[in-house]
Amino acid sequence: MKELNLEYSEIYEEFEKNSEFKKLSENIHHGLTRLEHVNRVAKWSFYLSKLFKLDTKSVTRGALLHDFFTSDDINRENYKDFLKEHPLIALENSKKYFEINKIEEDIICKHMYPITRKKPKYRESILVSSVDKVVSCYEAFRFQAATAVGIMILFLYNIR
Ligand SMILES: [Fe+2]
Ligand SMILES: [Fe+2]
Repeated sequence: MKELNLEYSEIYEEFEKNSEFKKLSENIHHGLTRLEHVNRVAKWSFYLSKLFKLDTKSVTRGALLHDFFTSDDINRENYKDFLKEHPLIALENSKKYFEINKIEEDIICKHMYPITRKKPKYRESILVSSVDKVVSCYEAFRFQAATAVGIMILFLYNIR
């Protein structure tokens, strides 16, 4: 466990140093800061990527960047548009401040699937998209709803 925590910290180091990324700590998301949200999604995704033998570094980096935007970047007046558009804003910011690979790009811009139409291309993207949904529900409603949604997502991805 100690080794895994160290590996996560090593990946996170790059983000911790970036002043733009640190601004996520000033934004509220599901009653917490957006920095707490992306870290929770990234940590769960990190551990699960080990379990499923996926590309852990891309999973973790993509998860950390999946909601990389501040309230200045978005228009919250139309919530439906916000749900569809924020992955592309996060992708634009990610490319501006970090070097990202194809898997990370796919994780960021497809994480709202099926709200955004394009299907995740990699297993790494499916993982982060699923974890984000479970974590978002957990943060919004705490436990019971998150468990129900988790089961629903597993079911949805399995019938595709
Ligand atoms: Fe998001
Ligand atoms: Fe998210």
